[in-house]
Amino acid sequence: MNLPKHIAIILDGNGRWAKQRKMPRSYGHIVGTANLDKMCNVIADMGIRYLTVYAFSTENWKRSQQEVGTLMNLFRKYLKKIERDCVKREMRVRIIGDKTGMPSDIREMIDELEGMSANYDKMLFQIALNYGGRDEIERAVTRIADDARKGVLPEGRITSEIIDSYLDTAGVPDPDLMIRTSGETRISNFLLWQLAYTEFYFTDVAWPDFNKKELIRAIEYYNGRDRRFGDAR
Ligand code: IPE
Ligand code: IPE
Ligand code: MG
Repeated sequence: MNLPKHIAIILDGNGRWAKQRKMPRSYGHIVGTANLDKMCNVIADMGIRYLTVYAFSTENWKRSQQEVGTLMNLFRKYLKKIERDCVKREMRVRIIGDKTGMPSDIREMIDELEGMSANYDKMLFQIALNYGGRDEIERAVTRIADDARKGVLPEGRITSEIIDSYLDTAGVPDPDLMIRTSGETRISNFLLWQLAYTEFYFTDVAWPDFNKKELIRAIEYYNGRDRRFGDAR
């Protein structure tokens, strides 16, 4: 099996999964977070170098205060928990998204986690929190304009490479495979720039039920694709 170097996942369907079981949405998020923990280990064990997951979008603030509160508390616990995994797996964690919009105690936890894991290079785990693809591009373009004004950037064309280097994902190869669980077939503002040539895999399985078998199915699908980058192979 030809493994993708970088997998991106839109973790979707926690709420519907819980509703089907006559449970509150928060229960779906609890089980979904536990599954993220499990799947991150599965992916690390397979030897995949880059994993990026969409955990909270810039649009998700529109959900009820109670649901947002539950999610923030789960992030607090999860960010604490994965510190140990970073050491064990020599894994670096990077949060992508607008950190300034996160509660200050979570921002501190992010700084600590990114700092303590900065030198690990076996695997990079990117977690998108308060992330929106358009917001990321907006922030990048604002910094590019500032640097152009200050003369930090060379004069002339703003190339793709320059844009890449101002994105939250700077330095990371674009995803090879993007998986979205739970039946929706849109990208909901995830990695708009980086997904330009990524293969997409959509499954009806809800995130809390997504497991190694489903992941292998997605990778097999990816293996069956004739990857093209605009050339005439
Ligand atoms: C994904 O599950 C988790 C987050 C977006 C935070 P959802 O909460 O979107 O679950 P559904 O799509 O409503 O079922
Ligand atoms: C996308 O899922 C965001 C995350 C998974 C964090 P949503 O459930 O929020 O997206 P929509 O509303 O279906 O587009
Ligand atoms: Mg959803």
